[in-house]
Amino acid sequence: MSTILVTGGTGYIGSHACVELIESGYDVIVMDNLYNSTEASLGRIEQITGIRPKFYKTDLLDEEGLKKIFAENSIDAVIHFAGYKAVGESVAKPLLYYENNIKGSINLYAAMKEAGVKRIVFSSSATVYGDPVRVPISEDFDVHTTNPYGTTKLMNEMILSDIAAADPEWSVLLLRYFNPIGAHPSGLLGEVPNGVPNNLVPYIARVASGQLEYLRVWGNDYPTVDGTGVRDYIHVVDLAKGHISAVAYALEHNGVEKINLGTGNGYSVLQVLHAYEKACGKELPYKIMERRPGDIASCYADTAKAEKLLGWKAQYGIDEMCRDSWNFTLKNPNGIE
Ligand code: NAD
Ligand code: UD1
Repeated sequence: MSTILVTGGTGYIGSHACVELIESGYDVIVMDNLYNSTEASLGRIEQITGIRPKFYKTDLLDEEGLKKIFAENSIDAVIHFAGYKAVGESVAKPLLYYENNIKGSINLYAAMKEAGVKRIVFSSSATVYGDPVRVPISEDFDVHTTNPYGTTKLMNEMILSDIAAADPEWSVLLLRYFNPIGAHPSGLLGEVPNGVPNNLVPYIARVASGQLEYLRVWGNDYPTVDGTGVRDYIHVVDLAKGHISAVAYALEHNGVEKINLGTGNGYSVLQVLHAYEKACGKELPYKIMERRPGDIASCYADTAKAEKLLGWKAQYGIDEMCRDSWNFTLKNPNGIE
């Protein structure tokens, strides 16, 4: 079976992808600098799958460290999750984001080139669509970004496309995630936000657990079903499974593909809040606030390409996403340790 290097493999999405890769029979090597995750994720992956992936505590900015990983292992493909992801922080510290997400990624691509590894699945984001002209969003929509984080995603897409244009043996899958939420149904893996969460579901989870008083709903005057923002929430296990289909495709085909990973369904802030109330069995307080600057009304995916090209389709619904988020929250009051 093929060997896959997973950068950012101890993080939220990466750890779930490791589980699915191992369960699909792949050999998995994880590299992460543990900036936003802990080594304990590896123990959790082992608890679920029975296998602890080989681990390198390496920074993308450490060129020699990267070369060593490729020299010591026969790697068939890379799934590249590692990077910084906080939009607000990227506006305040653009250089930090460009250094980590661009320079770090270029180091990775250079190490791959040197080792002759030419297959990569990259974590992009629906943020590259900016404020879309309509929904659902398909891959041929115009791209433009509104913050440095989004720009690092778009720049990586362009860099990888140029690499593949220069050498047709490369296989590049650019996966544009919509809004990943939820946790592994075992309750062993999930998202552990650093500080007060910015994203909706991690925030609601803290209201449900009593750590935050109420949800601040950012605006209820959008042209949506109930005036609150609509997004395409996708269960992190479905997203992880999308990577298995993507890596299998990358191992068999050359060239570049941009693919949306979403469910194709949009839910409003209040619909998500009510689904979470069902999951945790209590009413959750909220207050309507002003709109959050930079937010858009509605964002959900056209999923036809993922279905056609990868034969992949999300299976979980919003109730299961909230159930698994709450289960993880209850079982891990201090995060993954
Ligand atoms: P995460 O922070 O949980 O995981 C990222 C991992 O990368 C962390 O474990 C962190 O320690 C590691 N990392 C960061 N910089 C590194 C470096 N220089 N060297 C080595 N390791 C480094 O984030 P996540 O939610 O799992 O996101 C994974 C990827 O998916 C990211 O690239 C993110 O931008 C992208 N993405 C996430 C979302 C989302 O909502 N979570 C949406 C769209 C795209
Ligand atoms: C955010 C990021 C985006 C990233 C995506 C997935 C911003 C501006 N955008 O998008 O780049 O790709 O996460 O990680 O940060 N909401 C509330 N109250 C809250 C939190 C959120 O009402 O406390 C609302 C928002 O207004 C939005 C919806 O919930 O309508 C989802 O918000 P969020 O989880 O932050 O995701 P995005 O805005 O889609």
